[in-house]
Parts: sequence; C-alpha cells; structure tokens
Amino acid sequence: MDLSTKYLGMALPHPLVAGASPLSDDLDGVKRLEDAGAAAIVLRSLFEEQITREQLAEYLNLDYPGESFAEATSYFPSPNAFALGPVQYLEHLRRAKEAVGIPVLASLNGATPGGWIEYARLMAQAGADALELNLYRIATDPETTSAEIERQAIETVREVKESVTIPVAVKLSPFYAAFANVARELDRAGADGLVLFNRFYQPDIDPEELAATRTLHLSDSSELRLRLHWMAILSGRVRPSLAVTGGVHTAVDVVKATMAGAHVTQMVSALLLHGPDHLRTVLNDLAAWLQEHEWPSLAEMRGNMSLLKVPDPDAYERANYMLMLQGWRA
Ligand SMILES: Cc1cc2nc3c(=O)[nH]c(=O)nc-3n(C[C@H](O)[C@H](O)[C@H](O)COP(=O)(O)O)c2cc1C
Repeated sequence: MDLSTKYLGMALPHPLVAGASPLSDDLDGVKRLEDAGAAAIVLRSLFEEQITREQLAEYLNLDYPGESFAEATSYFPSPNAFALGPVQYLEHLRRAKEAVGIPVLASLNGATPGGWIEYARLMAQAGADALELNLYRIATDPETTSAEIERQAIETVREVKESVTIPVAVKLSPFYAAFANVARELDRAGADGLVLFNRFYQPDIDPEELAATRTLHLSDSSELRLRLHWMAILSGRVRPSLAVTGGVHTAVDVVKATMAGAHVTQMVSALLLHGPDHLRTVLNDLAAWLQEHEWPSLAEMRGNMSLLKVPDPDAYERANYMLMLQGWRA
C-alpha cells in the first residue's frame, strides 16, 4: 500500500510523525519511536526563556557577578523546570540525529522576535532536518492589538527563514480572528509548513485553596474536528505543507486528516497513553483501511474533502453553524 507523502520537502514513507513530547527526551525514546515506525520525530521545544536565561547568565557573569545575577534572573522559571537546557538540547539533537535514520525536527518556542534567531541557526548546525517554530503567545495586555501579534509572528518567521537554509514549519494557535489570512501571510513570509494546532492549556481554579491549578489533560479524537475544519479551508490555497497535531489517535483520524488536506499527522497523546508501539498499530490499521476501501494510495485521497473540492462547501462555512443549531430537535 502506498502511504508515501512529502512534508517540508522531505519524502516520507507514510504520514505518521511523533509530535513534540517528552517521548523523545532521551536517546532510548528517540530509538523507540523509530522502531515503532515513526516517519519523523519532532523533539520537544526549547523555550525562549531558557535561551534568554543562558544569554543573561553569560552577560551577567561577565559584568555583574554574585547577587545581582540571582536577583535579575529571579523572574525566570527555574532551570530545573525544563527537561533540557539549551546546551543539552543541542547535544541531544546532535546525538539523536546520529542514532536514527529518520528525520529529526527541532522545536523552538519563542515569545518575542529576534531573541531566538541564533538558536535556530545552532539547531540547524546541530543537524536538525527542519525546525518547528512553536508560536505560543497569550496576549494579556489589553493594549496589544491582534495586528501587532500577527506582525510579530510573521516577522519571526521571516527572520528565522533568513537565518537558516533548512525547512521551517510553524505550529500555530487557532485563536486568530482571520486565521486563513494569517496562514497566507506566513506563507508569504516563507514558512515551509503549517502545523495545526497548538493545544492551549488553561489553568483550572481550586476554589477551596484559592489557587490556579495545572493539570495536563491528554487529547482524544474529538479534538480533531477543529483541525479538520481549518485544514480543509487551507488545503490547496496555501503553498506550505500542512500537518495536523491534536486529536490523532486512530487510523480513521489519519484518513480524515488526509482527506482534509494534511501531508502529515503528528501523534502525542495517543503515544503517551498507549506507548510508542501504538504508532505501528495505527500504521497497520491505516494500510488495512485503505485496502478495504479500495484506495490505491494515500495521495489519491489528500484534500478530496477540502473546501475547494468538497461537494458541500457549506460544511465549512457559516451556513454549517446555522444548520447545526437549527437541526437540533429536543
Ligand atoms: C507532555 C507534553 C509535552 C509537550 N511538549 C511540547 C513541546 O515541548 N513543544 C510543542 O510544540 N508541543 C508540545 N506538546 C504538544 C504536542 O506536541 C501536541 O501538539 C499536542 O499534545 C496535541 O497533539 P495530541 O492530541 O496528539 O496530543 C506537548 C504535549 C504533551 C502532552
């Protein structure tokens, strides 16, 4: 069965990619994902705050030894809060590349333009086959406009693209007023891939303790719909390759994502829940599904349910909202 695909210019045997997660934090994990059949691996993100901390440490060690360093860095998360520091990250990336034959993507999570461009270069030098820029930003300042947020994201992508020659994918939030336009602008800025979507992790409130609490819920297949919707809207209308992340648990999820237009489907929660070998199960199920439904290849179905091709384009438009609500009978 031909499950082959192309993502960020890389020819892959199939679309199942291990998304950014702790599963690839050590070499054993990286090898397990390759053994389970992953077509590529995205390493966990290096956060801008980690980079800034390192740069600040260098600077302050030169000019202000001692107490002032502790004071100046007190507002950063503790280094222990991160699985891999910047230097370790680059070393891990280098070793992961040596350990496996599949593409390894590095991930950078930045909040401001400029500061992390250097690390994009270092990741490329360390052997990353591509970069995934994880643009996770919460605009809590009421004075900050959406135009400013979008401009910064687009500028970041343009700057990173100017700094490296490897492909650059952008992992995005769905929370833009005009997401299709943001995708088009990122395309114009040179993004080679769009990864839909980042999951946002909202804190809960503990009303007894008066505390904001953090619990990470893993996804299930119901989260796929938001991705399918936007994937179908973008498919065939932007140049970058398209990846789904969020809610991919089964072979049918992969089929749906491909029909919406995905070139690859990333899995994390499913692999954390069932172990890396679950990827092999989904891969086998995918081949079986195509055979059973007489699809000669995955490429044949890619985007056949996109907004451009679907027989009922209303499904992705405002009309769908009205039809859904009006169709409910008590
Ligand atoms: C424990 C954990 C750690 C993660 N770390 C990262 C990360 O460092 N960078 C990133 O871009 N996404 C990270 N993610 C998000 C995943 O890559 C993925 O986008 C998200 O979990 C949705 O996919 P899923 O439904 O397959 O889990 C993490 C997810 C989990 C559960």
